[in-house]
Amino acid sequence: MLEVKGLHKRYGDLVAVEEVSFTARPGEMVGLLGPNGAGKTTSVSMIAGLLKPDRGEVLIEGGLVRSETDDVKRRIGLVPQDIALHDELSARENLALFGALYSLRGKPLAAAMDAAFDVAGLTDRAQDKVATFSGGMKRRLNLAAALLHAPAILLLDEPTVGVDPQSRNQIFSNLEELKRQGKTLVYTTHYMEEAERLCDRIIIIDHGKVIANDSLAAVRRMVPSVNILEIGVENPGRDGWMGGLRTVAGVVAVEWDGAALSVTVKHLLEDSPAVLMWLHAHDYRCTHIASQRADLETVFLTLTGRSVRNA
Ligand SMILES: Nc1ncnc2c1ncn2[C@@H]1O[C@H](COP(=O)(O)OP(=O)(O)OP(=O)(O)O)[C@@H](O)[C@H]1O
Ligand SMILES: [Mg+2]
Repeated sequence: MLEVKGLHKRYGDLVAVEEVSFTARPGEMVGLLGPNGAGKTTSVSMIAGLLKPDRGEVLIEGGLVRSETDDVKRRIGLVPQDIALHDELSARENLALFGALYSLRGKPLAAAMDAAFDVAGLTDRAQDKVATFSGGMKRRLNLAAALLHAPAILLLDEPTVGVDPQSRNQIFSNLEELKRQGKTLVYTTHYMEEAERLCDRIIIIDHGKVIANDSLAAVRRMVPSVNILEIGVENPGRDGWMGGLRTVAGVVAVEWDGAALSVTVKHLLEDSPAVLMWLHAHDYRCTHIASQRADLETVFLTLTGRSVRNA
């Protein structure tokens, strides 16, 4: 269990992180989303104990993360946004260096390296110099390094930038497996489809503050488009035929585009039946019924006013 309480970090006049609090449980993957400069990496660095917060604290299984040498810190693995590898060494030698940081050697080190290479999909390149690796392969090795000491909590700061779709899928399956094993994962990404696939909970940070922290479904409900019913009508009446729908309880807006109605309701489940009953009572025939579903990109745009990729 990871508990982040009131983290605060200022750089001169700039407040990079302001009162960031959240928890992440074992077996849970929490997505940390936000535009460039939102304070994600600063937050993750403070959680990993690499950067000292001005205020606030981080607890792991109830124990406070304090100094550089703190034992609880061993329970954390960090995949940093900026890749930290030695180009002149082989992938295996790089991992051995990371292993040494955690006093891993001999057989346990070899087994940990094999497992980490497997997760990263780099087993057949383990002996090659990192200098000969592509950008995506370096990212994957960066991930392998963080997994070596089998941390209970894994912080991933944009781990898949530049990784090809196939390798990305492999990484996802392996992260899902780590989740099943009860690891706690905090995942920073600019790819909404990744957050939608992987994360149980979504935290959106903007200007250093948490502006949303809820399940994916609940975060989706924060934008109005999820409450729009689209209903195709085969036999519409003359102009203004659907005016009466506006008086139905729970209906906020009604539009007709010549083929389908867009009916905005306050509450999808509670208010939709009355809309359908009205159409039925007036003998309108429906060709289809659908409700719109906000994707994370829309949620993000609505909440931050910026697109996640061009932020
Ligand atoms: N060492 C530093 N000195 C001064 N300002 C900093 C420093 N590190 C970060 N900042 C500032 O703090 C803010 C948050 O930066 P941070 O790297 O946490 O953003 P981020 O959400 O990770 O962004 P990105 O999506 O681009 O990785 C930014 O305005 C950044 O310029
Ligand atoms: Mg960052």
